[in-house]
Amino acid sequence: MKFAQKSYIIIGSGIAGLYTAIKLSEKSDSDILLITKSDLRESNSRYAQGGIVGVLPDNTDDSVALHVEDTLKAGAGLSDREVAAFISKRSAEAISDLIKYGVEFDKTPGQKLEFTLEGAHSKRRILHSGGDATGRNIERALSALVESNPKIKIYKKTQAVDLLVDARKTCKGVIVLDEQTGEYETIYSSAVIIATGGAGQVYSNTTNPIIATGDGIALAYRAGATVQNMEFIQFHPTALNFEENGSRFLISESVRGEGARLKNIDGEFFTDSLAPRDMVTRAIFFEMKEKGHDHVLLDTTSIPEAHLRERFPNILNACLEHGIDIINRPIPVSPAAHYIMGGIKTSVRGETDIKGLFAVGEAGCTSFHGANRLASNSLLECVAVANELAELLSEQEGSAAIDADCKINCLISRYEKNHYDYFPDVNSFKRELRETMWEKAGIVRDEQGLKKALITLNRLKLEFNQAYKCRNLEEYEFRNLLTIADLIIRSSLSRKESRGGHFREDYPETEEEGCNSYLSCDKIIENIC
Ligand code: FAD
Ligand code: SIN
Repeated sequence: MKFAQKSYIIIGSGIAGLYTAIKLSEKSDSDILLITKSDLRESNSRYAQGGIVGVLPDNTDDSVALHVEDTLKAGAGLSDREVAAFISKRSAEAISDLIKYGVEFDKTPGQKLEFTLEGAHSKRRILHSGGDATGRNIERALSALVESNPKIKIYKKTQAVDLLVDARKTCKGVIVLDEQTGEYETIYSSAVIIATGGAGQVYSNTTNPIIATGDGIALAYRAGATVQNMEFIQFHPTALNFEENGSRFLISESVRGEGARLKNIDGEFFTDSLAPRDMVTRAIFFEMKEKGHDHVLLDTTSIPEAHLRERFPNILNACLEHGIDIINRPIPVSPAAHYIMGGIKTSVRGETDIKGLFAVGEAGCTSFHGANRLASNSLLECVAVANELAELLSEQEGSAAIDADCKINCLISRYEKNHYDYFPDVNSFKRELRETMWEKAGIVRDEQGLKKALITLNRLKLEFNQAYKCRNLEEYEFRNLLTIADLIIRSSLSRKESRGGHFREDYPETEEEGCNSYLSCDKIIENIC
């Protein structure tokens, strides 16, 4: 085991991690370590298509108040008004920062920023880049800045596998695995920032790439942090109906914003194509169930060809690769897990309830999105919260902490010896878990299904039987997926109502008063109104 000390450790190189690193380097002279388990740019962020919400003064038709109302309406009673106003007010600064960092947003022929529309937005307020390549262009610009910044050291292909939290609930660092050498390292720090993104891979149908295994949420929960609202999963209505590398290509909601309409396979309209995501997803789910089909159609043929080519070049090409020419033919689509509204409970500055541990981006839960996220609000939240967090940390000035207690030393010792006496078949376990979650804890749930999912989960936990040191990245990811599945199932069982991204067929009504749900490994579940 190697040992090191750093002032700040950021885990994850999506927009939240990269932006935190850049801001922190501007505000502080201390050393920053950025750890990422894949290549620097591989993340959910990279695949963002639709764009980022910009409530900008030039868009005179729009206002913070209108954006907040749309966010709260989509959030189905669980978005926090103050948090929404706080984040919305910071969007103008966030956009101007991104432009300063090299992101080129698309413009109108008159050289003004061009706004698009997505479901449940009352105004055109979404900025995009490269047509439908917003995430790729943001990742490219931010990662170039991080790579050339001498204050930021980067560990690529390095996975955070455990957090060092002492008996007084203070985080002192992290244990990481270098995937190329197989070596472990204990890195001490008084500020560990989780920016590890979402957990879409817990479902067999997802728009998320294979890195999205909920690692940070699982690590923080096991270390004693409170997680919030884990039952609220956003299933995107329109993923291309083909799987590639464990993930499904997204057909952005902005395609519907530009005029495409959903039809059933008989060519009939069956839903409002721009209603909130959860409603469109359920309409598709029930339509497919009733007709016994595995997809519906997204008709893009009414959008002029030149506009389709200019606005959605990547979608056009991805569909062509599957033999679908979207200029002349509708796209076969079906829902897929897309975003987790729940996560590590944090303040709007990224503080968790463990001292020294922070979370930002999709891994965190600030109560901005409530029970259902408004489209393009995630990238905005990542940037707005990262900015606040960097400010907070620079005020504290990071100093490395090395006073490990026996709880931490005991944890480290578990990674110092090998105890492999059995080699689990992780691929088949993972397949079973993901399919079970899709069938029993997916778009439409009920008590019987959720309890069956829990039985399967408990059997898989017993069969996997790797509590601490695993052999490789895939095993650690599976260990985390088991934790995430457990959190989703238990939270879903405890919420006996339907709201936003959580639909119970046995409790289809929404309770009048909305409650957040919390889970922590040293407390029992509470619903707090
Ligand atoms: P991510 O971008 O997922 O980054 C997580 C990082 O953590 C990765 O670098 C990963 O490798 C690393 N990591 C994970 N675990 C570990 C570990 N154990 N050790 C080390 N590193 C680790 N939102 C919008 O607002 N607008 C959109 O248009 C939009 N489109 C989307 C399209 C798609 C296809 C998808 C999947 C999502 C979309 N979203 C969109 C949601 C949005 O992209 C994400 O919520 C957001 O990018 C999350 O950013 P993040 O930095 O929190 O996490
Ligand atoms: C999309 O482009 O449809 C995704 C936007 C989002 O998830 O916010």
